[in-house]
Amino acid sequence: KAYVPGAKPKADMEQLNKELLELVESLRPKPEECQRQCEALEALRAALVKRWPDCKVHLFGSTANQLSICNNNDIDVCLELPDLPSDPNTKGEIVEELGGLLTEAGMQNVLPLPKARVPVVKFVVGENGTKVDITVNNILAIVNTKLLADYVSIDERLLQLCYVIKHWAKRRQVNDSYRGTLSSYCYVLMCIHLLQQREPPILPCLQAIKPPTHFRTVGQWVCDYYDDLEALKGFGAGNKETLAELVWAFFEYWAWKHDYNNAVISVRTGGFLTKSQKEWTRRVGNERHLVCIEDPFELTHDLGRTVDRQTNGVLHKEFERAACVLRDHDNPLEKLMEPYRA
Ligand code: GTP
Ligand code: MG
Repeated sequence: KAYVPGAKPKADMEQLNKELLELVESLRPKPEECQRQCEALEALRAALVKRWPDCKVHLFGSTANQLSICNNNDIDVCLELPDLPSDPNTKGEIVEELGGLLTEAGMQNVLPLPKARVPVVKFVVGENGTKVDITVNNILAIVNTKLLADYVSIDERLLQLCYVIKHWAKRRQVNDSYRGTLSSYCYVLMCIHLLQQREPPILPCLQAIKPPTHFRTVGQWVCDYYDDLEALKGFGAGNKETLAELVWAFFEYWAWKHDYNNAVISVRTGGFLTKSQKEWTRRVGNERHLVCIEDPFELTHDLGRTVDRQTNGVLHKEFERAACVLRDHDNPLEKLMEPYRA
């Protein structure tokens, strides 16, 4: 299992790339699935405007940034209420009220979590089984969904890599921030960061290109960035790396090259920061900063904060396992994606 600097995968990379691209195609959501999600959204919207006639109902997360993989029934919805005070208590109260309202409207398994960092109601749209997470005035999530969607449209290798990594993380059970591993959002940022680091880069750093063309401030966070995608067409064309090479680079990096003691990855700057720069060197409450991933807009937010000693070990072992499977097997894909069994 030891790291061998400079070691390359044993597999025929052309063959592996072909298989990975086939996997990506098989993971694209089917039209019926998208249809079902649209219907769920409309049913929800109808229930919400009755109570809040001037509300807006937004879709965010993977169903809004093209990174949804098939058989993921979840949709992320944000209820936007103009003129609502932004404190967590108010949002918590709305979430309580939403819980009652959604139950009355016939939604199932309604679970309001008013005390969560981002208050949320989880429920299932009865008729069609779509699972929904609804949050209130979660404007940062709408803005970061657009940022991710903009990155996705710059180079197709980002979507391909995210599909493969998300699929792997689900199979290996390391995609659950409630249980101390990492959210999909976190994995996507890790993928963007990797593509920003390639030589030559596959993705630019949209928040570093001056002057910005998209302007939005959410509370204390300035979320401006450059979003003239027409002008960025072909940005990554000078880099010829294939999906297979990028998947290997991802796991090699997180297994052996990332400096877990000091480094913070930062999509915002397109590079690295240190834990001491961020003052993320000490455990505060339940936030341990063992794996540090800076949110692109909410700069005090370490997306890896949910990782504890035990899950850090699990994650690291999984990254190493993946890297070793890729390095040491002639035909690694099936083994790479083997479902985790305790
Ligand atoms: P799947 O549901 O697994 O397909 O992935 P997803 O891309 O929808 O990601 P996830 O469900 O983890 O998160 C949904 C959205 O919530 C993300 O796109 C972000 O906009 C937002 N989000 C998730 N986690 C955080 C977080 O810790 N901080 C902030 N600011 N936003 C988050
Ligand atoms: Mg989601």
